Formats: sequence, C-alpha cells, structure tokens
Amino acid sequence: MPPVQRIGVLTGGGDAPGLNAVIRAVVKAACNSGIEVLGLEDSFDGLLDPSRTRPLTPKDVTGILRLGGTILGTTNRGNPFEYPIDTSEGHVDYSDRVVATFEKMGLDALVVIGGDGTLQIAHQFYLKGIPVVGVPKTIDNDIWGTTSCFGFDTAVSFAADAIDRLHTTAEAHKRIMVVEVMGRYAGWIALHAGVAGGADVILMPEIPFDMDKIVTRLREREAFGARFSIVVVAEGATPRGGKTTLVEAAKRGHVERLGGIGAVVAQQLEKLTGKETRYVVLGHLQRGGAPTAFDRVLATRFGGKAVELLSRGVFGRMVANNPPDIVPIPLADVVGKTKTVPLDYDLLRTARAIGTAFGD
Ligand code: F6P
Repeated sequence: MPPVQRIGVLTGGGDAPGLNAVIRAVVKAACNSGIEVLGLEDSFDGLLDPSRTRPLTPKDVTGILRLGGTILGTTNRGNPFEYPIDTSEGHVDYSDRVVATFEKMGLDALVVIGGDGTLQIAHQFYLKGIPVVGVPKTIDNDIWGTTSCFGFDTAVSFAADAIDRLHTTAEAHKRIMVVEVMGRYAGWIALHAGVAGGADVILMPEIPFDMDKIVTRLREREAFGARFSIVVVAEGATPRGGKTTLVEAAKRGHVERLGGIGAVVAQQLEKLTGKETRYVVLGHLQRGGAPTAFDRVLATRFGGKAVELLSRGVFGRMVANNPPDIVPIPLADVVGKTKTVPLDYDLLRTARAIGTAFGD
C-alpha cells in the first residue's frame, strides 16, 4: 500500500503560465499510481471551505496543458496564519481549522504550487504536521534553490517580442522608448528580455542606476549615428540612493504594489536628452497567455517529480531545477530567501561586454 492514497493540490499567489501544466502532470501521474487527487480552489481557501474542492481525474485535466491561468483559481491574499480580517483580538489565525479540514477530507498529503509567500505558508503547515511537497512558481524567477521557474520563459519571450515591436516604431520616430517589465526584487526578466530584444540600457533592482550615466550612454549612441534607443526597466529598479516606485503601499494582508518607474525614467530622459521619449508598461500581459514549450516541459517535470516524492513518502521538500535533474530541496532552505541576479552572472558580464549600459 503506498504511503499516500489521496492528495490535495492547490495554486497560490500570482498566476504564472504553466500552472495548469503542473496540475495536469500531478493529476495524471498520481492517478496512474493509484492516488486520488482533490483540487482545492483559490489557494488555502480551498482548505477552509470543503465546498471549494473538487475531485480531479485525468479527464478533468485533458486539454489544459497549453492554457494560461489556473483551473483551480488563486489568490495572493488570505494567509491562514494571519487572515486579513480585523477582530477585537487582531488578526485571525485559521491554521488549526485548515489542519482539521485537511484531516476531515481524508487527505494524506498536499502539493502546493506557488511563489515565495505560498511556499512559506506550505512550510508552516509542514511544521504543523501536514505532509507537503512544494512546486516553485513565479515569472520573476527569484525563488531560491531552483535555476528556473515555469512562467519565466513565457514572460521573457513575450517581453522580447514587445521590445522587437518597439524597435521599429522607435527607429521610425527617432525616439527613446522605455519598457517597464515585471520583477519586484530581481531583474531576471529585464536582463533576459533586454538582451534578447537588444536593449541599449537595462535597469534592474540589483544595480541602482544613475540618470547621468544613462544619458551619457544615449549620447554615445547619437554620436555614432543611432537616432533611437531602447531602455528596459524592471518595476523594482531604483535610482541610486532612491526608493522603489509604488502604485500602492503595503497594507494588512497585502504586499506593496510596484509600478511607475518606467514613466519616471521616461520623463527624466526626455528632459535631460531633449529627445522625444515614450514609455510602455507590459504589466500583467507578461503573466497571461499560453506557456512556451520550455515552460510546459519544466512544469510537467515539476508535477511528475512532486508525485514521485509523495509516493516515496518524502515531504517538506520543494522540487527544483538543477540541470540536468529535477531535485528535492528542503522547504526550510528556501523560505525567506530571494534569488537575485548575481553581479558576476555571465549574461550580465556579456551584456556589458557588448555595450549594454546598466546605469552604474
Ligand atoms: O511576483 C510576480 C509578480 O508578477 C510581480 O512581478 C509583480 O510585482 C506582482 O506579481 C504583481 O502582483 P499582482 O498580480 O497582485 O498585481
């Protein structure tokens, strides 16, 4: 008899292309090993309310491999350890209710697909006795311990395509085009999409920028006859000595919302260079649409590995890409850390070598 006969699967945090591919792989691999799967809707909310659950069979996941979003729904609010409802006693801790519901549902283990926040909650439940395996998800690619997360390749491909389109209009009008991409604490999307799209300047959270340095680079381009320039800026990029640009500050149960640095950079560049400048925010377009082939394959490998671990009774782990293998690493080693772009990363050094400026 396998140690696990009935598992729950949930998706938490912001969506990323490839979530459905993981769900599909989990359901198919589990059912083929004689394990039943229960889909839990809207992250851990599905474990607060049994009416927000449904059995998933291979038939239920047929055709979802190529779909963006998640058939289970998701939320980046509602941490059961600190539910954002104000009571006279402060925040409510629903975690015991989740554990009780988990047991009442006859579940033996959970597959939690999510980013840093969701994996942190998964780890807390593991410490409370729920057998958990985590699957890392984020387009930002900043989860510690895995070289890549599904969703990142799709976001980069979309952003590179957008930069290609902006090149032609920038050239036609002899303008500076500023493209704001996602990346709260790490510049992986900005760097990879910027290099793939041939950006002249890339601004990222790891390298605080100096406006004068950017202007110098753009003037050099003018001097050799290039009449347009492309600047890619991560939403989390900051001027040297400055702060991140926010749409909304953090409030109870909600993290801060970043955005607006593209407009700030564009406005300053127009003033300092005298060149017409426009900006575009790619925003959630980077999270939508069908996953690339790379992301479908990675998501499928993650889902398959998660079930293999559960079947062997290995819990408290996150599946991670460590080429050429998918490996389990302790959730305890992952939580609370962010994988930023190392300053000696070879792509960063190569980009500098070919003349890309980083504003430093
Ligand atoms: O973490 C992934 C991400 O897409 C970030 O790049 C971005 O800042 C954030 O999520 C946006 O979150 P929301 O969908 O809540 O606006």
